[in-house]
Amino acid sequence: MKREILAALQRTEDYVSGQELCSWLGVSRTAVWKVINQLKEDGYEIESVPHRGYRILSSPDHVTAEQVGSVLTTVWAGREIHYFETTGSTNNEARKLAEHDAPHGALVLADFQESGKGRRGRTWSTPRGTSVMMSLVVRPKLPPERASMMTLVMGMAVAAAVRELCGIETAIKWPNDVVADRKKICGILTEMSCEIDYINYLVIGTGINVNLDEFPEELRQKATSIYLLTGKKVSRAALTALCLKKFEYYYGRFMETQDMSLLQEEYNARLAGKGGEVRVLEPGHEYDGVSRGINERGELLVELEDGTVRQVYAGEVSVRGIYGYV
Ligand code: BTN
Repeated sequence: MKREILAALQRTEDYVSGQELCSWLGVSRTAVWKVINQLKEDGYEIESVPHRGYRILSSPDHVTAEQVGSVLTTVWAGREIHYFETTGSTNNEARKLAEHDAPHGALVLADFQESGKGRRGRTWSTPRGTSVMMSLVVRPKLPPERASMMTLVMGMAVAAAVRELCGIETAIKWPNDVVADRKKICGILTEMSCEIDYINYLVIGTGINVNLDEFPEELRQKATSIYLLTGKKVSRAALTALCLKKFEYYYGRFMETQDMSLLQEEYNARLAGKGGEVRVLEPGHEYDGVSRGINERGELLVELEDGTVRQVYAGEVSVRGIYGYV
């Protein structure tokens, strides 16, 4: 009931009458009043005016199930939300839930991760209350070797959501970073449980630097936040909900062909460093070439000096612009 009342108050800037809420939800005035008090305790500033009703004056920047759920407009993504004030890693929580039959679209959110995971064994750490940390469980009917493309799909969703909500033009650093001003604002770690020919589930873990006002010295050249770019704080719940909405759209397009055919053009238009020189770092081997964009399998095409084109698969590979991070 808390989520419904919150959604009703957030839908309008006007007053919502207590009577309307009672008849809509089929509950007493006291029950509504109790929920309003709970919301106030949660940090919402709510004005109550006799004969007019309730009105939200300000909302706390939380990513709880109630707050994200109340602004969510998706059909399936994030329809089941598990929120943790503190957890080790949302990806680990999502994997546990997926092992216990969590449905396609189940979402884990946290305000703080004690041991957030990055790609290739790295850590991902952000101060409490500043960023989006979400892990989405999906169960696509796909051969496992196509799973890595889900990272590209989420990258597109985050880029589109950040542009729409925050007005920032972003680029995608293949395969899985969203960058702005040549610095990283989002990283994605996709994990998989599969049989030889069947995906049990994927967990797509996404970290977005939203309201951070500084970074440690060693990251300042490589990472930034939406707040540092725009000078404006953004509602993390609204950004989470919009990322999920965009993800649902791009996921649908992807599943039509089970590859990037329908998304390739848009992805390549956003690809950082396309047409420029890149260095491909494979375990034990590195080489330079020119980035020619992705193909329909999501592989990065890199043209070597002799004109041959290598197809780079987004596994254990890292690609750098040879003049810096992007
Ligand atoms: C990277 O760029 O190396 C990937 C970073 C992924 C971080 C996110 S935060 C939410 C989810 N939970 C984790 O432990 N990691 C991902």
